[in-house]
Amino acid sequence: MIVRPLVVSVGILGLMFAGCSQSSNPAADTSQAQTVAPNAQAESPTPQLDVPYVPTPTAVVDAMLKVAKVGKNDVLYDLGSGDGRIPITAAKRFGTRGFGVDIDPQRIQEANANAKKEGVSDRVKFAQQDLFKTDLSQATVITLYLLPRINLQLRPTLLKLKPGTRIVSHAFDMGDWKPDQVVDVNGTNVYFWTVLEKVPANLK
Ligand SMILES: C[S@@+](CC[C@H](N)C(=O)[O-])C[C@H]1O[C@@H](n2cnc3c(N)ncnc32)[C@H](O)[C@@H]1O
Repeated sequence: MIVRPLVVSVGILGLMFAGCSQSSNPAADTSQAQTVAPNAQAESPTPQLDVPYVPTPTAVVDAMLKVAKVGKNDVLYDLGSGDGRIPITAAKRFGTRGFGVDIDPQRIQEANANAKKEGVSDRVKFAQQDLFKTDLSQATVITLYLLPRINLQLRPTLLKLKPGTRIVSHAFDMGDWKPDQVVDVNGTNVYFWTVLEKVPANLK
């Protein structure tokens, strides 16, 4: 039971360690760009990623949408949306409106191209912005594939959203905010919460 999340987390966490040892983490890239090509850096700054890009496998995307009972009337926000697969899949399959934010402009380009290819550009929008500066008040469903630390940083904001807002996280939980459901997808955990009327006493 304890082993599974650790194994799964190697996806993102493993990548971060590998990135550091190869000096390819975002912070290292940024400083190198400043030394080598200050003008290029000014024109096209390397974004500081709080989480590296690792796409969610299709089976996990499907399980995330299923556990949240995503439907036509939902507005799904994916925080750190990568190539857009979660909102795009929801739009294609259920007619859901979606909004993805990613700090990396390359991911936004890919997501927009994918939405166009899949014929859902009218229902799904992507914006290059920091997930921590994103207004989440219109979301009915929020999907996450971030890191434990980032989930905990987001938690106070998520707890204050409209009661009934559903939150799904691939691989990582929210510490003392116990999930309503945990689904095992081939050894990967998907966590599901519903925002309550009142913030639980232990989380205030
Ligand atoms: C693990 S990937 C998840 C991608 C997608 N949600 C999925 O499940 O396939 C995390 C994404 O978060 C983005 N990201 C990292 N820090 C961010 C930030 N501060 N604001 C917005 N996006 C960020 C990365 O560029 C990356 O695409």
